[in-house]
Order: sequence, then C-alpha cells, then structure tokens
Amino acid sequence: MNPKELAGKKAAEYVKPGMKIGLGTGSTAFYAIHALGTKVKEGLNITCFPTSQASEELAKSLHIPLMAHHEVHRLDITIDGADEVDPSKNLIKGGGGALLREKIVGAITDLYLIIIDDSKKVERLGSFSVPVEVVPYAWQVTAGHIQELDADTTLRESDDGFFVTDNGNYILDSDFGLIKNVAELEVKLNQIPGVVCNGLFIDMADYIICGHSNGDLEVY
Ligand code: A5P
Repeated sequence: MNPKELAGKKAAEYVKPGMKIGLGTGSTAFYAIHALGTKVKEGLNITCFPTSQASEELAKSLHIPLMAHHEVHRLDITIDGADEVDPSKNLIKGGGGALLREKIVGAITDLYLIIIDDSKKVERLGSFSVPVEVVPYAWQVTAGHIQELDADTTLRESDDGFFVTDNGNYILDSDFGLIKNVAELEVKLNQIPGVVCNGLFIDMADYIICGHSNGDLEVY
C-alpha cells in the first residue's frame, strides 16, 4: 500500500457513528474519503462537509451523506493533507488551491487530523512556497505588499490561464525561503488588503498521521 493510502485509511479509523466529518482536499485526502465511502457502504452513519468542489464530487460519487452549509457549526473530525509539516505540527497547505475552505473547516473542528507521506516532513517550513489566496482586483498591488515581506511571488496558472479557486480568487505562490517566525508571518499576510487567506496553518493540527514507503505508520 502506498504511504498516502496507509495514512488515509488510518485516519478513517478515528471516525465513529454519528460524527460530523470535514473532508480535506488533495491526493492524500482522496484515500481517506474512499475509506470513509467504504465504511458508509458498510452502514456507518456519518455526515460530512467537503473543503472543495473536487472533494464534494468525490464524496457524492461514493454516496457519502453531506451537510448543507447552514447545518455546519462544529465538526468532530477533519481529515486533510498538507504540503509541509514542521516538528511543531505547523503546516503549509494550499498546493491544491483549497486553502480558504480548508482553513474555515479546520477552525471549527474538534480533532484535526493531518495525513501525509514522509516526504512532507521538514525541520522548518518554507521550501514549499506559501500559497496566498487574493482577490483578483488589483492583484499586482497585493503581490507588491507580499513582496515587501521579502518574498518572490508567482501568480499560479492553470492549463487555460490563471488558476481560479473555488471562491473565484487567484493564488500567489509566495517564496519566503525558510521561514523564521511562521506565526508572525501568518498574521502579517492576513493584514494585507486583498489577501483572503494564506496557507500557513499555525497551531491547528492535533495529530499528524504519516505513512512511510516501507509500510510503517507514525502518529504523533
Ligand atoms: C489542498 O489545497 C491542499 O491544502 C492539500 O491538502 C495539500 O496540498 C496536500 O495535497 P496532497 O495530499 O495531494 O499532497
């Protein structure tokens, strides 16, 4: 079994009948959603809330019951991936562009489980550029403010032009190099007009579930 699948299946074991579950986005969350789909098929009674259109479509295809937006207040567990994880369980997320919905969902979750393969573990965050979701209006001005924080910014592109998030915004992948103070940078980014969300998830993860290519699983 590949390490992402190992981690995704392990996370699904935390889910108990009656729970409300946040569904993450990405190639690792994919395996967790599939594992939950199997449990639902076997009779597990849960309701879920997805963090992206892609995860919503996947959940629907597996007949996983979904909550309407007005029904969501607290979630028991959210299972989501990450692009980097440091030893304090701080994260960079948003490689798939779903960071805003992921942060909204993570913030109302009692047990936030992050599933990764061992390539995502780093000593210090920042080798992976920090995705910053910005409104399209005057995005160049917003990029200028981010650059003043000592970053190189790249407007994310897709096959047919600029990448547009599920919320109709753009992503500026922002390279700060290895980040000295992640908590401070997270606040500074949030203070920039035009920034909707940034991919630094500080002090949010409860457990990291890490799959290794030799088949080992690590939970910490
Ligand atoms: C989606 O926007 C991201 O935050 C993902 O959770 C993150 O990029 C990890 O994705 P993979 O599991 O595909 O590496």
